[in-house]
This record gives sequence, structure tokens and C-alpha cells, in this order.
Amino acid sequence: MYTLIDGKKVASEIKHEIAQEVLKLKAAGRKTPHLAAILVGNDGSSETYVANKVKDCHEVGFNSTLLRYESSVKEDFLLQKISELNEDRDVDGFIVQLPLPDHISEYRVIEAINPSKDADGFHPVNIGRMMIGLPGYLPATPFGIIELIKRYNIPTSGKSCVVIGRSNIVGRPVSILLSQKGMDATVTLVHSRTRNIKEIVSASDIVIAALGSPGFVKEDMVKDGAVVIDVGTTRVASPDAKSGFRLAGDVDFERVAPKCSYITPVPGGVGPMTRVSLLRNTLMAAQFTLVTPIP
Ligand code: GUN
Repeated sequence: MYTLIDGKKVASEIKHEIAQEVLKLKAAGRKTPHLAAILVGNDGSSETYVANKVKDCHEVGFNSTLLRYESSVKEDFLLQKISELNEDRDVDGFIVQLPLPDHISEYRVIEAINPSKDADGFHPVNIGRMMIGLPGYLPATPFGIIELIKRYNIPTSGKSCVVIGRSNIVGRPVSILLSQKGMDATVTLVHSRTRNIKEIVSASDIVIAALGSPGFVKEDMVKDGAVVIDVGTTRVASPDAKSGFRLAGDVDFERVAPKCSYITPVPGGVGPMTRVSLLRNTLMAAQFTLVTPIP
């Protein structure tokens, strides 16, 4: 029998912890933590993500600001807004929701964010700090996955772990974190050009599926007793759902779960942990400066 990893429950516990910290800050006469978000255009998933982030802020007692721009916004204008948020002493951290329209460079936008306000942990300074194990802001989804593994006391030391997918925001950073001292897993990262994915996955103790392909991980790819973490959240049409779609994970849950020791559901697994990790980064930004501000 497998254990279902309840990300919703753990995220709710962490939200309570954060709310307590906010009360402590206020009692000490400090300002209320404040997260700002920039949303460009009207992509459905991005709108939902950002609306949820704003809602989460209010639940834990943070202030939030949402800046919305048309998809035709010029890159220079956006860079100017980022510079204003960098200077704004009331804003502790901010994010720019991705993806951005094609005419705007994601890299230029991310590099314009002051690393000490980079609540998403996407700036090369924070990625670099993560690489060498220095404190900094961690990307929200990898941070959430590591926290879930820790709170369920899942052993990682000496275990073989496969990460499926090499995105900058999930696959690559989670592969780094799992191989670091303290986690001590032996990590293999596989991607669309890997020849023997099935062989590698079926030999792994821990499987992190982050490729965005519904049902990719099948029962014959997973060994008995494996730990399976599903990061997929693809929207698929579902006429029965009120919204007209449902979220599909990268794992064929019904068939894979009986073989696992632990498995995350979709929804209710990694998703809520991603949201709460952004709050943790914002709280850290409000409590102290983790990265030396750029003069
Ligand atoms: N798009 C998908 N996930 C994320 C995220 O964690 N942060 C931002 N800024 N954009 C995203």
C-alpha cells in the first residue's frame, strides 16, 4: 500500500507557520511583507497562477500588488517597471509571471530584477548561489519538492533519483538540489534526447516527472517501492468540469500508484507547495536580505 503525499495539507501547515511569523514581525514593529507580481497579457494559466498567488498573500497576512500590462507592452517599458520595483522600499520581493510574449526577452527581464528581491529565485545570481550551496532564493517548485520530501521523512541519501525534464525552473534546479550535501541522492537527468529513458526510470528509487506530457510515466517504467513525484500540470479538456478543463499530471496515477511507496497526486501534490514556497521566499526577503543588494 502506498502513502499519498498530501501537498495541500503540508502547504496549509506551512501557511500557518508563515502567518505566525508575520504576526511576530508586526509585533516587533516591522513592516508587513509585500509581494508584487507583474502579469503580461491574458494567458489563462498565468491568470490563474497569479490570482492564486495574490490570494495566498492575503491568507498569510502579506500585502500584494498586481501590475498588469497588455501583451503588446514594450520591453523597455517593462524593464522600467522592474527598475521601479527594485527601488520601491515597501516591496520586499516580486515576480514576473512567465511565459512572456515573444518580443520580450525573458533573460533580460529576469536579469533586471534585483537578486535580493527575486522571490522566484530565477536570477542567475540566485541560481549560482544555489549551485554552490549558498543561501539565496530557491525556485519555488524545486523548493516545494524538497520540502515535501523532508516533511515526509523520505530517505534520499545514496538513493538513485531520476529527474525527467530539464527546464530552467524545475528539472535542472531540482536535480542540483537533490545531489547536494544533506540530500545526497545520485541524480540522473533525462530529457527529450535521452535514448534509454525507460531503462533509467525503471532502475530509480525516486522519480521526479517534470516534462509536461500527461501520463508519460507508465507502470512498466517504475520499480516496486519507488517514490514518485509528479510535477505535471497540463490543462486538458474536460467537459464535466466547471472550468471546462482538468489538470493532468505526467504520471499515469491509477496504474503507477500501486507500485509506489510514496506518490504525489495531481492536483494537490506539488502545486500547493510551489505556491507556498513563493510565500516563504517573500517572508525571507522581508526578514533579512539574503543577497547583497546591487549598488
Ligand atoms: N510560470 C510557470 N511557473 C512559474 C513560476 O513559478 N514563476 C513565474 N514567474 N512564472 C511561472
